[in-house]
Formats: sequence, C-alpha cells, structure tokens
Amino acid sequence: MGQLDGKTALVTGASTGIGLAIARRFAIEGATVYMTGRRKAELDTAVARVGSRGIGFQSDVSQLDDLDRLFALITERSGGLDIVVANAGVGDYGPLGTITEEEYEQTTSINLKGTIFTIQKALPLLSAGASVTLLSSSSALRAVPGLGVYAATKAAIRSLARTWAAELAGRGIRVNALTPGPVETPGSDELLAAFPQGDQSTVADPVAPTPLGRTGRPDEVAATALYLAGDDSSFTTGAELLVDGGATQI
Ligand SMILES: NC(=O)c1ccc[n+]([C@@H]2O[C@H](COP(=O)([O-])OP(=O)(O)OC[C@H]3O[C@@H](n4cnc5c(N)ncnc54)[C@H](OP(=O)(O)O)[C@@H]3O)[C@@H](O)[C@H]2O)c1
Repeated sequence: MGQLDGKTALVTGASTGIGLAIARRFAIEGATVYMTGRRKAELDTAVARVGSRGIGFQSDVSQLDDLDRLFALITERSGGLDIVVANAGVGDYGPLGTITEEEYEQTTSINLKGTIFTIQKALPLLSAGASVTLLSSSSALRAVPGLGVYAATKAAIRSLARTWAAELAGRGIRVNALTPGPVETPGSDELLAAFPQGDQSTVADPVAPTPLGRTGRPDEVAATALYLAGDDSSFTTGAELLVDGGATQI
C-alpha cells in the first residue's frame, strides 16, 4: 500500500531538482503525477525517471494559456486533482542598485503570478480534502544579500498559504507552505554561481553550513512534501514546514 494510492497530483516545475524528487516520491507512493516544465527534453527525461505514473506536460506557469491547456488535459484524463504542489520557481542574483525590470518581471511572473494562477485555475478540479503545497524559501526568513526580489516573492508565497488556507477551509482543502533552506539542485547551483567570487559578506550566507553541517537533498524536501500531501497531515493547514537543517530556527 502506497501512502498516495489512487490520488492524482500536479507538481509544477518537476523536470529537475526538488520538483522532480517530489514527483518521484509521489509516484512511488501510488499517485498519478502530472509534471510540468518549460524545456521539453528535460521534462521528457524526468518523466522517464518517474515511470508509468508520471505524465509530462510542457508548459510555463507564467503563461495563462499554458495553464488552461494543462488543466483541460487533467480534466479530460483524470477528472480532478487531490494534490497540487506549486513548485516552479526561479531566482536571480540582484542586490539593490542592480535590479533590472526584466529580472523583476521574470522572477515575479514565475514565482508569484505563476503560483497564484496555478492554484486559482486548479480550484475547480480540487477534490474535498485536497492538499495544496506552495514552495517558499528560507531566504524569506533570513536575509541573503543579493536575493531581495526572490525572497520577497517567497515571503508572499508564505502569506498566500495563510490566506488561501482560510478561504478554502470550508471545502476541506488544506494549504501549506513548504520552506527549504539550501538544497543542492541545478537551480541552486546556477544561482550560487551568479554570486560574486570573493565577496564573503555576500557569498557566505547562502553557502554557510546549516546547524546540521551540510546542505539538504531534494529527497529530504520530497519527504516533507509527501507528509503535507497525505492524510498524516490531515489537521495541518496554513502552516509553514521548514526543511533547512535548522538554519533559520537555531
Ligand atoms: N534549491 C534550493 O536551495 C531551494 C531553497 C529554497 C526554495 N527553493 C524553491 O524550490 C523550488 C524548486 O527549486 P529547485 O532548486 O529544485 O530549482 P530547479 O532545479 O531550477 O528546478 C526548477 C524547476 O522548475 C521549472 N520551471 C522554472 N520556471 C518554470 C516555469 N515558468 N514554468 C514551469 N516550470 C518552470 C524548471 O524547468 P524549466 O526551466 O524547464 O521550466 C525546473 O523543472 C523553487 O520554487 C525554489 O524557489 C529551492
């Protein structure tokens, strides 16, 4: 018996990193998992790794037409959704004074607009008792110089989890924020590479050892996503669960 037998899940941004780990774990636990991403080759590879319970759909969360096509497919094939993980997100290095309009638009339209419209458009498909998980970031809880715009979007995500948990409680739908600290993924590697070398005041923070003395693994975030998606967390809503090695709490 898997913990998610018979459930249908959507994980946005599931072609690499944390999203892929969550999709794999959900499929292992018996769920049918819709997986999205913008790059077709990466998504195809990810779906192959997830196996027969993975269904890939190339789409961009910041494009409302893409979201409409995604939810039309899910409606047609599955009829509804029990679990949504709004994971797709991007970050750029940009200290105040260097932020460009283009970087601002990209970060906010994927992290914030993308999350808002993913969940809004999923709403008619969500079953009673469905679980919605939104990916925040420890950078919203502890300053990381250079990540102001990214952190602001992630602070907004945490706020949305509270508001939507209240709005959807009447339907028995739970909404929670999942907040990773430093986790090794292609996305975090790329982001860290953008930090200027040698500027310890800037570089030290994102790569500093956590109290546990290491960075996290995507499968450790996936284990918490599984908890939030399943019945074990049936009395947990509006919460924020941290998977950060203690970095923001100790
Ligand atoms: N890794 C960390 O240390 C860390 C810490 C805190 C929070 N987080 C959050 O965790 C989530 C996953 O991060 P990650 O480190 O696993 O990143 P990642 O390795 O870069 O993976 C991001 C995934 O999202 C997809 N994606 C990006 N933009 C998209 C869009 N507009 N529409 C659909 N899919 C999109 C990417 O594929 P395409 O590029 O092909 O679209 C990729 O599959 C993000 O929300 C991130 O902010 C990560």
